[in-house]
Amino acid sequence: MSTQLVHTIAEVREAVASARRQGLTIEFVPTMGALHEGHGSLMDLARRPQGFLVVSIFVNPIQFDRPDDYERYPRTLEADVEFCRARGVDLVFAPSIEEMYPQPQRTFVEVTGLTEHLCGRFRPGHFRGVTTVVTKLFGIVQPDRAYFGEKDAQQLAVVRRMVRDLNLPVEIVSGPTVREADGLAMSSRNRRLDPEHRRAAPAIYRALQAAAARVAAGAEDPGEVRSAALRVLEAEPLLRVEYLEIVDPEEIQPVAGITDEVLIACAVWAGNVRLIDSVRARPGRGEVR
Ligand code: PAF
Repeated sequence: MSTQLVHTIAEVREAVASARRQGLTIEFVPTMGALHEGHGSLMDLARRPQGFLVVSIFVNPIQFDRPDDYERYPRTLEADVEFCRARGVDLVFAPSIEEMYPQPQRTFVEVTGLTEHLCGRFRPGHFRGVTTVVTKLFGIVQPDRAYFGEKDAQQLAVVRRMVRDLNLPVEIVSGPTVREADGLAMSSRNRRLDPEHRRAAPAIYRALQAAAARVAAGAEDPGEVRSAALRVLEAEPLLRVEYLEIVDPEEIQPVAGITDEVLIACAVWAGNVRLIDSVRARPGRGEVR
């Protein structure tokens, strides 16, 4: 079956209604484009024999806290549509800003608590922008299931909580972080790294692994685990740590002691590119996938 590219909400509704009439379920992967294997693995997860696979490509302005980051975000629609075609996507929805925000947005969806730490602390308004656009996209696509990457661990926790709190009729499915051979988590932002910073960036995952190894060894003190990761990052002068925190994976609150599974998450600047990564770790076991 061929991949259809549409730009309007009306076209999505028509295609989705027709798929439903054929008895298909609606599977949805929301993206901001600049697609890579991380997105590809979510599409693979979302492609089902009796499913109609929709991918949205929309660089959502209201989730960017800095205008320059929004301007510089990679936009590669033609290649993205090809990518979707190769991955067996049925419908690509690539709306314009005017289609998504025809008038100033006056209604916002905000998840409190879970957005106070990690990225929420450093990117004011970011998660409000994410949850608002995801709610709009759910309203447009009306999927049975929506797929999110575990790399954006806080986003995943926030979206899951929003769906539960608002009783939205969609199941959230997560896909594991996909990494380059040297451990760097795949991200649309990686393509903005210059060769020097690209060489330095794998230290991020090495640092998280060092922290997870401390958890495996039975360390209960988050300070000790954090220091193990920071030592790795500080040895790499081209990287600057924005945060590195150990939190409860569902509530995204710092833990006082490590007695259960934790999320070890960080944001690191490699030059002018901000990269995030995280691992889950369990006492006595270390990194869990
Ligand atoms: O993870 C992303 O790419 C975005 O935050 C999302 C979920 C597509 C919302 O714009």
